[in-house]
Order: sequence, then C-alpha cells, then structure tokens
Amino acid sequence: MEKKVKILGIAGSLRKESYNRGLLKAALEVAPADCSLEIFDLSDIPLYNQDEETNFPKSVANFKAKIRAADAILFATPEYNYSIPGVLKNALDWASRPYGDNAWDDKPVGIMGASPGLQGTSRAQYHLRQVFVYLNMHPLNKPEIMIATAQDKFDAKGNLTDPKARQKIGELLTALTACAMTRCTKVKS
Ligand SMILES: Cc1cc2nc3c(=O)[nH]c(=O)nc-3n(C[C@H](O)[C@H](O)[C@H](O)COP(=O)(O)O)c2cc1C
Repeated sequence: MEKKVKILGIAGSLRKESYNRGLLKAALEVAPADCSLEIFDLSDIPLYNQDEETNFPKSVANFKAKIRAADAILFATPEYNYSIPGVLKNALDWASRPYGDNAWDDKPVGIMGASPGLQGTSRAQYHLRQVFVYLNMHPLNKPEIMIATAQDKFDAKGNLTDPKARQKIGELLTALTACAMTRCTKVKS
C-alpha cells in the first residue's frame, strides 16, 4: 500500500473552546484514507527572540522537525484585527529562522478559518497568503474555507455541526493530499 501523505495541522488560537481548533478536530473526522493528520499545539512556543536563534528552545526545534517531516501543512486561523493572530505569526516566524533554514520551504499548504463575524477570517487568510510568498509555501487556491457566524455552526462541545463546512474541509484535505502526492517525489515515512 502507498504511504499516506502526512499533514500537520496548526491552529492559530490557544483558546480551549477555539472554533479554529474545532475546525482541525473536524478535519480529523473527515480526513480521506490516503492522508494522516497530526495536530500541533502552539501552546509551548515562546515569543520569538532573535537572541535565541543560536540556541533554539527545545519546543521550537521539535516544531521545526514536525514541519520538516510533514508533506503538507493545514492552517486553521482566526482573524485578529483584520489580520493574522500573533500566536500564528510568531510560529511562522520561528520556523522560518535562522535565515537559510526555513522549515516551511516548498510545503503545500491548505488554509481554513472560522470567526463569529461575517467575513469568516477572509482578511487574515489573504494576509497569510502574502506571508507564504516569502516563505516559499504553496497554498491551494480552492476550496476557500471561511466559516462566518461560527457560533451557529458548532455545538456546545466545540464540534463543527454544519454539514457544508464539514464537506468543504473534506474537499480541502483531498486537494491538499493530491497536491502533496504530485509535488513530492517521495512521501516521507
Ligand atoms: C484581539 C482580537 C481581535 C479580533 N479581531 C477580529 C477581526 O478582525 N475579525 C473577526 O472576524 N473577528 C475578530 N475577533 C473575534 C475572533 O474572531 C473570535 O474571538 C474567534 O472566536 C477567535 O478564534 P478562536 O475561536 O479560534 O479562538 C477578534 C478577537 C480578538 C481577541
């Protein structure tokens, strides 16, 4: 049997009841059989400090190793003040450093996001896409997953209940898996 495409899922929220963590939880439930999804929790990633680049914190070194071992990345991002939350930008910055050792390099990437607002994180997602240019990541254009009025689409336990949204997440994972398969000469073991 072919090896599964390894996807690393990262939510840009530390909140226990986070809608965006909820999106990743839903992704685990709808993931196609030819991929495996591991969720990385950013809680242990400290604030970026360039002084520590020569002696990387263990949690960051582990984070970079996870990224490197993945065939593709899946971000679930909140929108903060029309942009990327600091938690996520901080993680992106750490793993891009030191200069010349960018762990994100050449990774296919899927984006989704949920917000109680009406735009469903669209502005944060387009800012993310701009960052991906410098990081040399390869975001899928479609499907776009921007879950608006999130409070109506999750139950009290944080499960995504909206069938359309769940279907879209399945489609995104299928597209990301296909993209990783065609881009990678060898899926990592
Ligand atoms: C500092 C801050 C800024 C926010 N700015 C926006 C915003 O620009 N657009 C938006 O739709 N929601 C905004 N919100 C509301 C978030 O979408 C909401 O808190 C959401 O639940 C965060 O995602 P999470 O549930 O994954 O933690 C903001 C929340 C915070 C705390």
